[in-house]
Amino acid sequence: MRLALIAFLLLTLFAGCAEKQGDEYVIGFSQCTGDDEWRRAMLDGMQRELAFHNNTRLIFKDAHANSAVQVKQIEELLRSGIQLLIVSPNESDPLTPVIEKAYKKGIPVVVVDRRTSSPYYTAYVGGDNYQVGKTVGEYASTLLGGKGKMIEVTGLPRSSPASDRHRGLVDALATRPGMLRVATLNGQWEKDIAKKELRKALPRFPDLDLIFAQNEVMAMGAREVCNEIFPERKIRVIGVDGLPGQFGDIQMVYDGHITATALYPTGGEEAARVAMNILQKQPYQKENLLQTAIIDSSNVRMIKMQTDKMISQQNDIERQQARIDEQLEIYHTQRGLLYVMTGLFIVSIILGSVALYSLIENKKINKELNSKNTEIVIQRNRIQDIAEKAQEATESKFRFFTNISHEFRTPLTLILAPVEELLRQKNESAAVKKNLSLVQKNARRLLWLVNQLMDFRKIESGKIRLQVAENDMVAFISELMLPFEQVAKKRRIDFRLITTLSQLNVWFDRDMMDKVLFNLLSNAFKFTSDWGHIYIHITHSADEVIIKVQDNGSGLSEADMAGAFEMFYQGKNSIKGTGLGLPLSREFVELHQGTITADGKKGEGATFTFTLPLGKAHFQPEDIADPAAGTVEKSVAWTTTGVEIQIPAEVTDRKDFPTVVVIEDNEDLLGFIKGLFQNQYDVITATDGKAGLDQCFDTVPDLIVCDVMLPGMDGLQITSTLKADMRTSHIPVILLTAKNTPEQQVEGMQARADMYVTKPFSPQFLQESMRSLLTNRQLLLSGQVGRNIGETENGLSRLDKKFVNELRALIVSRLDDPTLTVESIGKEMGLSRVQLFRKTKALLGGGTNDLILNLRLEKACALLRNPDLTVAEIADQTGFTSQSYFSTVFKTRFGVSPKDWRLVKS
Ligand code: FRU
Repeated sequence: MRLALIAFLLLTLFAGCAEKQGDEYVIGFSQCTGDDEWRRAMLDGMQRELAFHNNTRLIFKDAHANSAVQVKQIEELLRSGIQLLIVSPNESDPLTPVIEKAYKKGIPVVVVDRRTSSPYYTAYVGGDNYQVGKTVGEYASTLLGGKGKMIEVTGLPRSSPASDRHRGLVDALATRPGMLRVATLNGQWEKDIAKKELRKALPRFPDLDLIFAQNEVMAMGAREVCNEIFPERKIRVIGVDGLPGQFGDIQMVYDGHITATALYPTGGEEAARVAMNILQKQPYQKENLLQTAIIDSSNVRMIKMQTDKMISQQNDIERQQARIDEQLEIYHTQRGLLYVMTGLFIVSIILGSVALYSLIENKKINKELNSKNTEIVIQRNRIQDIAEKAQEATESKFRFFTNISHEFRTPLTLILAPVEELLRQKNESAAVKKNLSLVQKNARRLLWLVNQLMDFRKIESGKIRLQVAENDMVAFISELMLPFEQVAKKRRIDFRLITTLSQLNVWFDRDMMDKVLFNLLSNAFKFTSDWGHIYIHITHSADEVIIKVQDNGSGLSEADMAGAFEMFYQGKNSIKGTGLGLPLSREFVELHQGTITADGKKGEGATFTFTLPLGKAHFQPEDIADPAAGTVEKSVAWTTTGVEIQIPAEVTDRKDFPTVVVIEDNEDLLGFIKGLFQNQYDVITATDGKAGLDQCFDTVPDLIVCDVMLPGMDGLQITSTLKADMRTSHIPVILLTAKNTPEQQVEGMQARADMYVTKPFSPQFLQESMRSLLTNRQLLLSGQVGRNIGETENGLSRLDKKFVNELRALIVSRLDDPTLTVESIGKEMGLSRVQLFRKTKALLGGGTNDLILNLRLEKACALLRNPDLTVAEIADQTGFTSQSYFSTVFKTRFGVSPKDWRLVKS
């Protein structure tokens, strides 16, 4: 719409600026001959006049004095659609029909110079030829004094000027009897023809006085022939035309070559003027006769001056015209440019307006968009809020699941641990043991489910990590089959591994594959009836291992197959359970970049196939298990090793028991642990972190067992506090917790715990761990004691080494002081008597008093090597209150008295 408007405006503009093409006039000009000066002058005059009319075009045709050619040319002009015809007919009769035709067709016809033989023309412009002939006759008579002989040389007899001029001459001479026209020759307007005729005729008239040639070229020819034939005579020659210029007959008169000439104007300008009047519907005259006059020696000078002047003016005009044309050209170019610029200006105004309009529109649209945007943003924020809330809700659900799972693990510990203990009691009856086994089985099942839930949580939160190692898949599966074999046997199920492979090394995470296969086998056993079969096939291709668990149980419906790996999918008949096992298996397999599929038909058994890529190139470096890290304690829970726990016989002397502080907020579990260890350890308990820490500082136990999640202060904080304190830095700490991810275990180790045991724990495993920690400590000490008490020891922590060094330095500096007591040392070191005793005992294997005594005796031995010192002096210098006491103690330790020792050693 806008573009159409612009186009319309531009068209209007340019149409207004351009000349009207419809007003152009096309004029056809048919010239009988264009070869002579007179005709050229006629054409020049015509063009000069038409130059005043920009909208006029002249089509010029030259018939070269051939009437037939001229007829054809006129016909062509008529066909080309001229609006007016100017014609100078070569001969009257031959040209009349075509000129009449044009006229009758409605095309105005201006006849110039020569006439047609009909009145059907619009206007005539030309000299009065009759008058020319008559004037010449009269002038010749006057010139010759009314008596003389003359020859007339005519133009084409059938052309009107020739006949008219002849008639005029005849009429003039008719009244002058002395004037004799002795011959009339046909010169056909041509110089050469005239000359030819004259050469033939002239010799017959030796007394000839004058030749009248009807045009200037024939007059020139006549002069030349006269000069040839009668060189001594001066025959007068009179011409017609009065052409100006160097080669015109005015010059000939001026030069005396011819006597006179009758002016015969070309009428070019006049003809053009009449034509334009006709075309522009202006008044015009039909007959436009141009006057004649004689030019002879009497007036030729003035006329020549005038015509020369005219010619030079004409030249000036032409030059001016050329300049005007140039200027016009420039003007047109500039006008064109101006139009273009104006056009561009208008276009830019229009475009500017359009732009302005668009800007305003855009602003409106932007405003609308902005408000819509704001709405969208508000809605988006709302959606975000809802999504966040939903996310939070999901998160809190998951948290709830996880926490619940955690919560389940402790009670499960409390169920499984006592059950295990009871099952180990040999005196229980078979019936009780059967029930206990049922309890154990279901508690384990519950634990399995809780573990699956937690595994899902880990997958959801991306915390689960592959820890792959290269294992023999055949051996791995064979091992996994073991626990199922008893059931298979009992239920007469044909349960076997079918493979041609004796070994196949595959990189996988043992724990995850354990769960996958356990799941598949549990399902198979669940849905296979007695006397059925369950086969495990192991095959491999170039790049993957393919494991199939195939049974002939109740099978899978199509819907079951489609949903089998969806979380919480509950099959109608076939797949029943929590809906967790298979999805979890799929996650584990896909973590290995493997695939798992279900196959089979309802009633025809099921086949679960999973594949694992061979090699380890598809794993990230962090997926590869560090062989140095060993096996993570995952499967310790509830794998019955068959090793009997050594429960020590009832011991009455509890003071030799190692002291253990157990910090656990679940009082049931705390009670259970206490009950479990009270026959081997002196168990001190605490139910919150702060109290537990205080207990540790107060009692400086031999071992600490501590839960991680505790009220007041968590287990990690407790551990790091204990390890940073000189009083307790040496005590081994076992962290006991339901937090069992590798990261959480690393956190525990970073707090410098000595061991990390996950819940639910095997009581046996915990007992063994405690025993092993204490034994190791003992071994370390025995090595130290063996070397010498008080020396800097390897295997101790930095803080413990510092303690030992400080203690030793303090005692050595005061060895001669008999008042040196455990209390005073403890005071100086900032430790209580008990703390100092326990720390010294734990690190050095003996009490502080033992250490003081050892160091005193050690120094005494050194002094005894000095013969200058008496035993009394040595006793004094080593802090013994009397020589006899020194001797008694010395003898008790070394079996000899100081004196004898000196004798032996010196
Ligand atoms: C030129 C001319 C003139 C003469 C006229 C007559 O062609 O011969 O010299 O006056 O024609 O038509």
